[in-house]
Amino acid sequence: MSATTTITVGNRSFVLDKEKAEQAYQAKKVINGRETMFFNILPLKYQWAYDLYKTMKNNHWEPEDITMQKDVEQWRSDEITDVERWIIKMGIGYFSAAEGIVGDNILHVVREVVTAPELKLVLGRHAHEENIHADSLVYMLSSIGLNPHECEAMFEDVPTIKAKNHFVVSNSRSLRSSCSARSWKAPSSTASSA
Ligand SMILES: [Fe+2]
Repeated sequence: MSATTTITVGNRSFVLDKEKAEQAYQAKKVINGRETMFFNILPLKYQWAYDLYKTMKNNHWEPEDITMQKDVEQWRSDEITDVERWIIKMGIGYFSAAEGIVGDNILHVVREVVTAPELKLVLGRHAHEENIHADSLVYMLSSIGLNPHECEAMFEDVPTIKAKNHFVVSNSRSLRSSCSARSWKAPSSTASSA
């Protein structure tokens, strides 16, 4: 029977194989650590990231938690100016694209590079937050009664925004191809011992 070690996380305790736990701990790095799809969250090395993941989960919210009744009334009235309407439509159009770009990059670029499982939890949760942001825009569109294509088309001809999107998307593509080139390596002798 192999030697065991007991670790604690908050008020919970876990019994792990001592040798495997030590190997897993040593192999954990934010980047360029052990690549494995098997269970290796424990023992925790990046407690701060695990705590952050828990905090993020506890901050869950839904777009519908915010009532838009007052916003709808204002939109239908003459309380807000044409310039303000333009700003709102522009903001919704711009962020419709931005939320998708951020979420996609967190999952397919940043999370691919990170190897520490505690940080992967954080990044997965971050992508979930971007989904909520995107859903918030859907909620705004439906509440106010806006055409998303009209909002999107408003910034298509703005050169600075076009240049920024081109910069982000082209860099994301090149980073993504470098991620997929090293996507799966044959397990090393250390990894196969887990
Ligand atoms: Fe966002």
